[in-house]
Amino acid sequence: MNEPWYRNSVIYELNIRAFMDEDGNGRGDFRGLIARLDYLESLGIDCIWLLPMYPSPGRDDGYDVADYYSINPEYGTLEDFREFVDKAHARGIRVIGELVMNHTSEAHPWFQEAKKGPESPFHDWYVWSDTPERYRDARIIFVDTEKSNWTWCESCGKYYWHRFFSHQPDLNFDNPAVRDEMKNIVRFWLDLGLDGFRVDAVPYLFEREGTNCENLEETHAFIRELRAFIDAGYHGRILLAEANQWPEDLVPYFSSGDEFHMAYNFPVMPRMFMAIRQEHHGPIVDIMQRLPQIPESCQWATFLRNHDELTLEMCTDAERDYMYSVYARDPQMKCNVGIRRRLAPLVENDRRKIELLHAMLFALPGTPVLYYGDEIGMGDNIWLGDRNGVRTPMQWNDGRNAGFSRCAPSRLYAPVIMDPLYNFTAVNVEAQDADPNSLLNFMRRLVRVRKQYPAFGAGTLRFFFAENKRIMALLRERDGERLLCVFNLANSCQYAMLDLQELAGCVPHELMDGTVFPPIGDLPYLLTFGPHGFYLFRLE
Ligand code: GLC
Repeated sequence: MNEPWYRNSVIYELNIRAFMDEDGNGRGDFRGLIARLDYLESLGIDCIWLLPMYPSPGRDDGYDVADYYSINPEYGTLEDFREFVDKAHARGIRVIGELVMNHTSEAHPWFQEAKKGPESPFHDWYVWSDTPERYRDARIIFVDTEKSNWTWCESCGKYYWHRFFSHQPDLNFDNPAVRDEMKNIVRFWLDLGLDGFRVDAVPYLFEREGTNCENLEETHAFIRELRAFIDAGYHGRILLAEANQWPEDLVPYFSSGDEFHMAYNFPVMPRMFMAIRQEHHGPIVDIMQRLPQIPESCQWATFLRNHDELTLEMCTDAERDYMYSVYARDPQMKCNVGIRRRLAPLVENDRRKIELLHAMLFALPGTPVLYYGDEIGMGDNIWLGDRNGVRTPMQWNDGRNAGFSRCAPSRLYAPVIMDPLYNFTAVNVEAQDADPNSLLNFMRRLVRVRKQYPAFGAGTLRFFFAENKRIMALLRERDGERLLCVFNLANSCQYAMLDLQELAGCVPHELMDGTVFPPIGDLPYLLTFGPHGFYLFRLE
């Protein structure tokens, strides 16, 4: 009963701009989002993660914030925001937003002031240098666009530091005024009802010479300070870390339960794609076994895709080459250190693979995060540049602009998907609503199953090994609830003899279809699978 809400939830990530346009200007807005709450409720999700909603020049889709205290006028007003949060809450749906702390837009008034020179009271809010030689060990993240992490500022005759685009100067966290301002921002939105934040680009807050300027102790100390500030005034609100790091560097963001409540499991994500391609459980099992135990109050956030490229940063060189060779045959599909494609096109629109991947996502430890549109198998447009190909308008029906907006099609912020295979006339919510066998209705069932059994969210994890490496079997266990989940990673029919002796006497009940299987005995338990088939069993 005292389980923190985020341990047994399903999160839905969406971009307001892309979801539903109510005022007909070609961009989604809060009024549109309010009108689509029925849909989100019908999907069964518990929490909406909103991509940046702040005023912004929009050169990094809102991650270039120009004002932390209001709403992008294209999306509506603060009043609309408040109404949206109230209406979501009334349905038992929580809402988390983005906290972009590491940098601002160069258009932010702080930076406009700062660049006037050292006399400006805001100068010290950013990181300046007379030479571009400092912090040479820090890697460049947006390798497709940036050559250096320093950019020359004409007006003050110095270089400023930026880990992302050169129009996103990094804030100086050594300045106590910056740290205090972050708390003010957090307070402002929590007071308006937000249930927490996905904290953007966490590892890079501080810089120190002689380090790679990631995961520094100073960063951890500040996060603990921020967490204590939230805990002191707000109950049940969360911080979710975007730290794209290896397990050893990721786990410290939970600290002893006094930093982040949640962190994305970046390392496991590409390995789910590797496993189904190699038809071998190795990649997933190895990385899960490398993840240390995390504090009881903490939780992983797991995902298949999001608004960015499918990042391959947490891969070895060989793994990355492999991923490119199988998932990015066309060079246009590559973006930075990753692949700019949506889930369905990544797996060649193979419905069985889409279902298998989601079933694994829901069965592995952590809270699953779905990316808008993937629940209906939306396609992408790799020709839109940067990561925009996975950010096209949500496809609601087969009408004008896929039901997203009544504007003239030329006015849309991005064209809807019209490829033969993924055309919005076929791939849309209305059509899938009416089809009991659609992907959407599969997803609704999966969400329902997942939420019914808390062991999925917070149970222990143990793998069972059959001789057949194409099969992955795992047991989730909590408070006497036992869930046995078995997956066929192969694109062919398979069988496995699982040694389940210690579970002898248990009767497996399949959760998606309700079928009761023969009791487990002392002999190896035989399971057969169709291509990419899987079972989610509750053991009685
Ligand atoms: C995060 C966001 C990404 C953004 C970057 C810079 O990685 O997910 O979309 O471009 O931060 O803010």
